[in-house]
Amino acid sequence: MSETAPRVLGLESSCDETAAAVVTRAGDGRGRVLADVVASQFEEHAAYGGVVPEIASRAHLRNAVPVLERALAEVGGLDGIDAIAVTRGPGLAGALLVGLQMAKALAFATGKPLVGVDHLHGHLLAPWLAYDDQPVTEELPGYPHVALLVSGGHSALYRVDAPLVRELLGQTRDDAAGEAFDKGAKLLGLGYPGGPTIDRLAAQGTPDKRRYPLTLFGKESLELSFSGLKTALSRELQRQGPPSPEALPDLCASYQWSIVEPLARKVVRAATREGVSHVVLGGGVAANRGLRARVRELAAEAGLHVTVPPIRACTDNAAMIALAGLVRLERGERDDPRTLVSYTRDPERRRGRFRRDGSLIAPK
Ligand code: KG4
Ligand code: ZN
Repeated sequence: MSETAPRVLGLESSCDETAAAVVTRAGDGRGRVLADVVASQFEEHAAYGGVVPEIASRAHLRNAVPVLERALAEVGGLDGIDAIAVTRGPGLAGALLVGLQMAKALAFATGKPLVGVDHLHGHLLAPWLAYDDQPVTEELPGYPHVALLVSGGHSALYRVDAPLVRELLGQTRDDAAGEAFDKGAKLLGLGYPGGPTIDRLAAQGTPDKRRYPLTLFGKESLELSFSGLKTALSRELQRQGPPSPEALPDLCASYQWSIVEPLARKVVRAATREGVSHVVLGGGVAANRGLRARVRELAAEAGLHVTVPPIRACTDNAAMIALAGLVRLERGERDDPRTLVSYTRDPERRRGRFRRDGSLIAPK
């Protein structure tokens, strides 16, 4: 290959997207996306209002090779890649295994280096992805910065000191922000995934900022919680029955406000406390227009810069995995296909019952 920067194939199968992508290092330090294929399973899970793990694993098995073939076709086949990166975790056990086994088989057959990648590190690197068909508009964050990672499975604040070096500052005690969108949408009969639909309806409505509770845990806290919000909506619907189509936009705007406001306040609080000048958003919920706008507003008041990834880099994709793999390869790291294994849980995620001051009463 003529270029010196390696071309890394990324594979992602941790939840309900089967994805393959090829990324290389661009001259400006960004990750140039040469191929980006994502097969979503929305339709297969829609009837259940959430991801069914067994259905996800089977769909990954069906989608994995066609998705890989499409991505490789963009770079001239297997000769067009130099290494393989794959999501190791966290995620659904059976789903992760499909991507991991495919990556191992490819590494074994081609002799190309293999690197396992943490899915959350992938999300945190999404702002660096650059697509040939999309102008680059966002300024790149320097290090250290504070990142808010909000997806269907995770809601956490990190101090990021370097690529792949993160320190957990705060996280949700219960549901993830994306789960709050999805569970709310399920209660409202709006289908799965609920985030994009609530986002669209909320844009047509006006929020009543007092309609649903804001869970803030006091002035200093960086913790989050969304389960009370879902319960409040459920009680309202039990009392009043389903909303009319005319009432939905205002309801969605109010519900979205109660998810977005704690997130926006806390990412700004975290950046101020850490003394950094830049905040970054990542994960599927970072695609939310309400969240992007409110974070920009509060960040501007606090004199902070904000970087959001391109929309398609927010939700699960393999380009972010390839880029995280590229960082590891550039450091001379690689994994042994004979011993690389997956993990399902984020080792830093706290689960259990908590006191109001944030201390853990009993782990789950
Ligand atoms: O990052 P992601 O694709 O998968 C996980 O790693 O979980 O995030 C998926 C989540 C879903 O809960 C979905 O409802 C939410 O991101 N989401 C949104 C929007 N687009 C996706 N939530 C709010 N507004 C959106 N525009
Ligand atoms: Zn994700």
